[in-house]
Amino acid sequence: MRDLRRSNNLADLRRLASRRLPRPIFDYIDGGADDECSLRRNEAAFDDYEFMPDVLNDVSSITTETTIFGQRSRWPLMLSPTGLTRMFHPHAELAVARAAARHGLIYALSTMGTTRLEDLAAAFAGPKVFQIYIFKDRGLTSEFVARCREAGFHGLALTVDTPVAGNRERDRVSGLSLPPRLTLKSLLSFAMHPSWSLPALTGSKFDLANVSHKLDVLAGGPMSLFDYIGGQFDRSVTWRDVEWLAREWNGPLAIKGIMTPEDARSSIASGATGVMISNHGGRQLDGAAAPIDQVASVREAIGDVPDVICDGGVRRGFDVLKALSLGATACSIGRPYLYGLAAGGEAGVDRALTLLFEEFERSMALAGIPDVGSVSSRHVRWRRTPMPA
Ligand code: FNR
Repeated sequence: MRDLRRSNNLADLRRLASRRLPRPIFDYIDGGADDECSLRRNEAAFDDYEFMPDVLNDVSSITTETTIFGQRSRWPLMLSPTGLTRMFHPHAELAVARAAARHGLIYALSTMGTTRLEDLAAAFAGPKVFQIYIFKDRGLTSEFVARCREAGFHGLALTVDTPVAGNRERDRVSGLSLPPRLTLKSLLSFAMHPSWSLPALTGSKFDLANVSHKLDVLAGGPMSLFDYIGGQFDRSVTWRDVEWLAREWNGPLAIKGIMTPEDARSSIASGATGVMISNHGGRQLDGAAAPIDQVASVREAIGDVPDVICDGGVRRGFDVLKALSLGATACSIGRPYLYGLAAGGEAGVDRALTLLFEEFERSMALAGIPDVGSVSSRHVRWRRTPMPA
């Protein structure tokens, strides 16, 4: 707890996470695809924008509330879906969702999560989104739509940047296996982190909880649940399938993984209510542009009404203010809350969200902007010249 209190920023929480987790598990969170260019650019691109603050505005009270996926949010941030969360802390998705609820933020549960969507909904009253895929077996996708409606999820985020798995070389080098198992390569690192390894390797069975009922289908066969779900990714999905999903769900739907104004337009034309500009945190197509650089053109393409969520590279609360100024409704974070979770469970997620909120609110005051509705494009400009060394 003392370490958490002493952490001043997300970089500190990342360091704590790297100490607590065995190397293969930390690398699974921290790494990106191939040369990790997009991973680095996602963060660095925020530095290319500089604030043009107003002064002598009354900022004695700052209003940060906004609406995302039709739900009130305490400030323009949401928590992106991340799979396999129990690998990072035994309290997994429930710890993250509880912290999100305390902060008044939307939490998105991944299809690849380790908590059943029904259990999450029962334990968590806050606004929630389910991250869905259009699987080869459309019946499985329909089943998720029905379960989400029944459980009271407020929105869906359809991930579209995973026709195939990205090439995560750190995972190969570190010998990560899914589910995590002791392998010769990972043995030493697991042995050096017993406080993580013992509960993780000896506790309740590690499971893809939302599809585990499919084990019945696989009973007796040689295929694991991971093989089954891996085989469900469909390279042939098109906009027609998005139209189908939008009709089936008939509620707030964001397409996650949009990078261009053209695809943003197609998303809205296909029935989505918003887009998440995202390159999957640099974990899929390496070399893809940074989400923050696409915000202005996407907003211009789809007009004022749809949600535009900038997903990837946020490491400071004031990054969110930059994204809003460029036209985003909100930002979304993955690793920032996972570093907190790995560093200290629910209290660690809480610390990450507190730091980000304080940074955001402070930057609003320093930029002379009393409420998020007053953020405008003149508050940020792109610097063309490289930063001096
Ligand atoms: C992810 N992400 C992700 N996205 C998704 O649609 N479904 C998923 O199951 C996962 N799983 C996942 C696991 C881990 C460990 C990470 C780090 C990320 C991507 C995630 O939703 C989000 O797009 C990125 O994390 C955003 O980038 P930052 O905030 O991590 O820089």
